[in-house]
Amino acid sequence: LDHYLVVGNPIAHSKSPFIHAEFAKQTQQAISYEPLLIETNNGAFTQAIQAFQAQGGKGLNVTVPFKQEAWALVKQRSTRAERAGAVNTIGFDNQGNSWGDNTDGIGLVRDLTKNHGKSLNNQRILLLGAGGAVRGVLEPILQEKPACCVIANRTVEKAQTLARLFTDLGDISASSYTDLAGQQFDIIINGTSASLQGELPPLPDDIIPLKRGWCYDMMYSAQRTPFIQWALEHGAICARDGLGMLVEQAAEAFYLWRGVRPETEPVIELLKQRLR
Ligand code: ATR
Repeated sequence: LDHYLVVGNPIAHSKSPFIHAEFAKQTQQAISYEPLLIETNNGAFTQAIQAFQAQGGKGLNVTVPFKQEAWALVKQRSTRAERAGAVNTIGFDNQGNSWGDNTDGIGLVRDLTKNHGKSLNNQRILLLGAGGAVRGVLEPILQEKPACCVIANRTVEKAQTLARLFTDLGDISASSYTDLAGQQFDIIINGTSASLQGELPPLPDDIIPLKRGWCYDMMYSAQRTPFIQWALEHGAICARDGLGMLVEQAAEAFYLWRGVRPETEPVIELLKQRLR
């Protein structure tokens, strides 16, 4: 039996153990996958990871607030993780070396393109927020060759820093919320944490092209998120939350560890039923 963990703080409500148990059943892989709460004091994360590796653990998922620490800890990083500045998937090889990857962006892209049939190619994309969540998904989004990618953030400097960091990968720029006035975007992706406080980024009322625009919230919840609700009231033809992204990022991690691709659709369906 190969052992895996998901670590974070908080962690009790993580859906990852359920998702990976379903993947393991489906692909007949003998693994365990447990949640582990790690204290946020200095050094606790590194200690916990090293102890798990010493016990023979094969890999782990890392969630809030440890993805940057995970990035710093691993010996080797994939190119997408390198630029994301964050690692959500760690593996240990037989030589005792650790590698880190970030599967969040490919999870978002696959949910949109494969599950929802929405291509990002040649689309005008607006990303809301400039924190770790947005930085983590920028490279895979730009690889889809959108027409342009605008990052809007309350603190514009953070959006500008991100735009600079990814400028060689495509047409990417930064904006304040007020400067969005008069513009429209084919796809608007919410990567702010505003939903957590039941809040909304201050968007112009006419930013969604009527009956054509798509909206995506990287968050998910049992009820519609405030952003999804707003999108549907302002002309979006489709507004999806991040449940599919959660399952797709997990599937990519599972593939990296096990070399097998699980089917995600049945697991997304099961999760939807459990959320109801
Ligand atoms: P994460 O790693 O989850 O992205 P973060 O780094 O704290 O978390 O970033 C949160 C993002 O949500 C930021 O872009 C933040 O905007 P600021 O950089 O201006 O603080 C954004 N955010 C949080 N609450 C918001 C709100 N009520 N309205 C708009 N943006 C909000």
